[in-house]
Amino acid sequence: MTYTAIPRKYRPQRFSEVTGQEFITETLRNAVATGRVAHAYIFAGPRGVGKTTTARIVAKALNCENPKNGEPCNQCLQCVEIVKGSHPDVIEIDAASNRGVDQIRELRESVHYAPVKGKKKVYIIDEFHMLTKEAFNALLKTLEEPPEHVVFILATTELDRIPPTILSRCQKFIFRRIPEETIVKTLKEICQKENVECEEEALRLIAISSEGCMRDAESLLDQAIALGQGKVETKTVSEFLGILTGKEVRELLSLGFRGEKEELKKRLKKLEIEGYNPVYVAKQLIELIEREFLSNSEFSEEELTAAFEIVSRGYRELQTHPYPFTLLFFTLYKLSYFNEVKKISELLKSGIKVTGKESSTEKKTKNGTVNTLKAFIERSIDKGTAVEIYPKNYTAYQTLKSKIDKLKEFYGKEIKLIEPEVKRVEVRKISEESEKKIDSMIKILNAKIIELRHKERDESTGS
Ligand SMILES: Nc1ncnc2c1ncn2[C@@H]1O[C@H](COP(=O)(O)OP(=O)(O)OP(=O)(O)O)[C@@H](O)[C@H]1O
Ligand SMILES: [Mg+2]
Ligand SMILES: [Zn+2]
Repeated sequence: MTYTAIPRKYRPQRFSEVTGQEFITETLRNAVATGRVAHAYIFAGPRGVGKTTTARIVAKALNCENPKNGEPCNQCLQCVEIVKGSHPDVIEIDAASNRGVDQIRELRESVHYAPVKGKKKVYIIDEFHMLTKEAFNALLKTLEEPPEHVVFILATTELDRIPPTILSRCQKFIFRRIPEETIVKTLKEICQKENVECEEEALRLIAISSEGCMRDAESLLDQAIALGQGKVETKTVSEFLGILTGKEVRELLSLGFRGEKEELKKRLKKLEIEGYNPVYVAKQLIELIEREFLSNSEFSEEELTAAFEIVSRGYRELQTHPYPFTLLFFTLYKLSYFNEVKKISELLKSGIKVTGKESSTEKKTKNGTVNTLKAFIERSIDKGTAVEIYPKNYTAYQTLKSKIDKLKEFYGKEIKLIEPEVKRVEVRKISEESEKKIDSMIKILNAKIIELRHKERDESTGS
């Protein structure tokens, strides 16, 4: 038995097998089923996402002897010949090598002959944008009034190179990049059919590297199977593609947060030497941060939100940076500043107000449920007709003061709010080095310390 490459072997043969383009395939299937097929289509979109595949399915569905709900049977003589590429009425033209006006004139002549075997003549013109200007013009008239028995499918990866005169005469379908999840699922099914053992993470790495192109994903899977001698393992695939495993990405993030300069530098240097793609590293970091944010992470919400900002900024700059790995190093190292987040939050508690962006406490009180208010209360003592409430700090005191009605309602009694003592010393406890880091962090977050609580308080009491 001869070996067939995976992309060819698993080329979808019916509309329902084309993944990730459901809107297009459903519309086309319906059009065929109800006999409302347009005479010219443009299939545009990135490479390897199913344009030629879908065009051939349309050709089959239109010529099939036993179509069902617009799907071809794939068994009749017509279907079989179209799959083999030997059907006389399905004409595939590669515009990249037939660019000129002569070829198009020839085509224009042949259009008028009735189909030899099937019901419709289907012209599939690939790389359509490669035609010369004269060739486009020669085609215009035919596109405008093609004979009843003809359907054109013009496939292109570069829609913006098609003249508007042509565009307006065709029905357009924009094919999308295939989502990572969908690629993983498709690859998994292929592995099952091929009886190949695979690790899901390995397939995920292939999906990342294929950037939404199914053909690339399938070719890479082919190579991975050959490389792993029938097994698709994360470790092998990771090295072969130059993409980190999930565990390695997590380690980089942790090293950054912990500020372990030397180890971080060492790891990144190794990746650079081994030819890893820094853009993928950043992309994987961002994906990890999101996953961590949505699960029970060892990192706090503040840390992850800040990490997202910082790494995203790094990612944008990476594309043009002359030293991408150095940029990655500093991007990750910046995360260590966020160890100071805890100290900042203590500062906040002791009354320093951070502005520039709405602080999270402010946001919460706006939604103002009693439960969030409770977070501001150190303790409460029921005195019979009234409740004495001790706020956690001065900011909390002010918040509670503005929500006293809510508290009354909740306790069903009068409220006596106890104003807390000011403790200046708390603020001074932070070391100079910490203060520096806090300063840079605040800059990064685009925030500013505007006032110390005691100042604010002195003013309000007029002393
Ligand atoms: N949406 C998809 N669902 C399933 N397999 C797909 C899909 N898109 C592409 N493939 C796989 O990739 C191979 C190539 O697809 P196809 O020739 O349709 O790509 P294309 O969009 O025409 O790309 P190009 O612009 O490079 O011509 C197919 O044989 C098939 O195995
Ligand atoms: Mg194609
Ligand atoms: Zn058929």
